[in-house]
Amino acid sequence: MVPQFPPLIAQLRQLAQGYRGFHTPGHQRGRGAPASLRAWWGEAVFTADLAEIPGLDNLGQPEGILRSAQARVAEIFGAEHTWFLVNGATAGVLASLLAVHRENGCVILPRHVHQSVIHGLILTGAKPIFILPEWDAQQQVWGGIDPEKLTAILASKNHSSINALVLNSPTYKGVCGAVAECIEIAHKYNIPVIVDEAHGAHFPFHPQLPDSALTLGADVVIHSTHKVLTSLTQSALLHQQGNRISPQRISQCLRLVQSSSPSYLLLASLVAMAEQMAEQAETLFDQLLTQLTWFIPAINYIPGFSTLKINADQIGFTAQDPTRLVIQTQELGVTGFMLDELLHEQYKITAEFPDYGDLTFILSPSHTEADLQIFVQALQEISTNRPAQPLTALPPLPAVTEAVMSPREAFFAPQRMLPWREAVGKTCATMVSPYPPGIPILLPGEWIAPEVVDYLQEIDRLGGQVVGVEIDQTIAVVSNW
Ligand SMILES: Cc1ncc(COP(=O)(O)O)c(C=O)c1O
Repeated sequence: MVPQFPPLIAQLRQLAQGYRGFHTPGHQRGRGAPASLRAWWGEAVFTADLAEIPGLDNLGQPEGILRSAQARVAEIFGAEHTWFLVNGATAGVLASLLAVHRENGCVILPRHVHQSVIHGLILTGAKPIFILPEWDAQQQVWGGIDPEKLTAILASKNHSSINALVLNSPTYKGVCGAVAECIEIAHKYNIPVIVDEAHGAHFPFHPQLPDSALTLGADVVIHSTHKVLTSLTQSALLHQQGNRISPQRISQCLRLVQSSSPSYLLLASLVAMAEQMAEQAETLFDQLLTQLTWFIPAINYIPGFSTLKINADQIGFTAQDPTRLVIQTQELGVTGFMLDELLHEQYKITAEFPDYGDLTFILSPSHTEADLQIFVQALQEISTNRPAQPLTALPPLPAVTEAVMSPREAFFAPQRMLPWREAVGKTCATMVSPYPPGIPILLPGEWIAPEVVDYLQEIDRLGGQVVGVEIDQTIAVVSNW
């Protein structure tokens, strides 16, 4: 059966042949493409890789086929306006922080935001007001922020200086915070709410999935559709609704952070993905959720393994994405890093995100019953062959230190590199995030306490990764000379 082609894709197909091009891209519809890639990818990828030629549109200021395609995708996702992103959800986060920025303003945000949010603070100069998210010590997992802490901050601060509230829900491990309550609290003060729902792009499409922040009334929602839906890597969506953030301002700010030569391969993949959701989402997610009714109990039955199950009565833990599988490994006496390596090397099963005490996987409707059975068999074998041995516990996270400068001031200040130990007492000039636990332990402008360096060394010893420091264990500090 010939599939229905959405207008953008039909247009690309029509323009892909029959024209003699004298324009970018230089491979000229594949004729000049390297033979190695042509042999592997075939011709079609190159013929569809067109620039903004007549019949196509300008993503920076769409007036034709991209404008109507964005409107159609907004309708499918339930937003008032939607923009196509070709530099990942990262571009959406940066553009939305730029769009709400007013000079000398602040942004309220949880500490476990993605680095793109911190980069947005560096670009804008907004001062962060951090709220430490809730921590479930038993399950060793972060939730969202406590709405009461947000209320307390708003009651005590001059809220006219607050540019926005940023929320990060769901987390990488699929935990959703109290998004509805936080939006309601911020909106009482007319503060716009930006929700980084990068990992929840599928939420609008099935009643058994957690509510999307779009239905909960967020002003801007960012979806990394390439992570959990079917568009190509680096494609994502920014949605807006209401009147707190102007769509024109978002368009202006997106022009600051996106390429002026967006890939039509990425754009076509966004359009096709959205139509796929419009037509099939309910059936596809029904199939996946049905599979999970045997798959999750089967994993929990294997000695040594259990899957993350949040307690939804706990503050900051409102819902959980059933398609995000977090396998806890500590009972078996292996770290998530060890299990990750074992599965990849010996069973050719590749996970999404290893942590000290667990391993996270993304489950999608494209996984077949056979995939899931092979997965369970691999875990069974690993469980049988590996005797349990207690693991050293992770050290407790040291308290966040005081900010001496704003992230922007520190990032643009003169810097020098120092070994970790010698950096104690200095001002950090970069962002340092140990994985685990994936919370930035230092931001540009924060004072480097001795406990922070102890913590980094312990995480390194336990096999974790410290992102933001150099491999020779040096760190960028603000230089006073
Ligand atoms: C919570 C969160 N937000 C934003 C991003 C950025 O997404 P992208 O890789 O699509 O730029 C990520 C990426 O991992 C993320 O985990």
